[in-house]
Amino acid sequence: MINNLVKENIKSLVPYEVKECETVAKLDANENNNVDYLLNQKIAKALMGLKVNQYPDNDCCELRRILGKQVRLSPQQLMIGCGSDQIIALILQAFIGEGDKILVHTPTFGMYKISTQIVGGTTIEVPLGEDFAFDYYNFVKVMRKEEPKVVFLTNPNNPTGGVIPREQIIKIIEYSNGIVVIDEAYVEFYGETTMDLVNYYPNLIVLRTLSKGYGLAGARVGYAAASKELMGILYKVKPPYNVSNLSQLAAKVCLENKDVLDRVIQEIVAERDNIALQLSEIPDIKVYKSHGNFLLCRIGKAKEVYQYLAEHKVLVRYFGEEGPLKGCIRITIGTKEENQLVIKLLMEALGATKEIAV
Ligand SMILES: Cc1ncc(COP(=O)(O)O)c(C=O)c1O
Repeated sequence: MINNLVKENIKSLVPYEVKECETVAKLDANENNNVDYLLNQKIAKALMGLKVNQYPDNDCCELRRILGKQVRLSPQQLMIGCGSDQIIALILQAFIGEGDKILVHTPTFGMYKISTQIVGGTTIEVPLGEDFAFDYYNFVKVMRKEEPKVVFLTNPNNPTGGVIPREQIIKIIEYSNGIVVIDEAYVEFYGETTMDLVNYYPNLIVLRTLSKGYGLAGARVGYAAASKELMGILYKVKPPYNVSNLSQLAAKVCLENKDVLDRVIQEIVAERDNIALQLSEIPDIKVYKSHGNFLLCRIGKAKEVYQYLAEHKVLVRYFGEEGPLKGCIRITIGTKEENQLVIKLLMEALGATKEIAV
């Protein structure tokens, strides 16, 4: 009986599933495993002054002030969300309804499509090209034909790690008759941003998160930057008190320790390139060039390899045996020890014996 009451667009959705298991290396969600001890100590110290009996600051004023200075925008051009996931959902709530379209490249982060289905919209997907390179000409062609209300560009892309040249992003923003969202969840590992374009394009939203580079996935803090006009619309759909005061405090500690975190991020970037080299020397593994804190690899026996790693309590992301990501696993760059463990297990699983220069 209950099923008859459910909205048509919700019926075919499957709940977001996360693998919960005991691990020695959790490398499946692009978290930052290199900073927890550092942040935990500082956050614990700062917690003593917190009034948890009171609702948090609804507008995250202090965080927006600190972030505004960092990204050179006024606080009115910023919104903090309970993860950037929440802001993706808010953008779609504000702009997409029954019959409206969004445009994405595929493969990419899955939440754009899921959140679009929830609000009754349709996702148009443009495949990436060879080796998952962004297919600019096809993308623009489809954009002109379909006239989507919202376009998502993920830069760097998850799960492929690829990037879109800045000139192409600018042209897409200029050619679009809708909103263009640049999701910069992994920007710290890439270095190039479009944040400076926010003041020039009133239809642009840049999305960021503290979950990845800044190692704060557990606190769920993301943010968006846009023109004041566009922000005014997003604030209409923001739920009250959407970011807890515990999370706001953790984010503040994180931003105050930006220098230390930036150093950790540089180490992860160097480690990523080193591990990519080591992996590419293992027969049967193709490693895609990545600008994130993860590596996408295509492996002959991906399922068996994934299971072998899981048996040894090492969790990576496996994408199944269908679609463009068939036979692919995504490995988050962890601590040096975790990374060496993955390489050792991969070699065991594939029976590779070749000596690898470390
Ligand atoms: C491209 C991209 N955008 C957004 C998110 C969501 O991040 P969060 O909700 O933790 O801020 C993720 C998480 O994996 C991601 O990969």
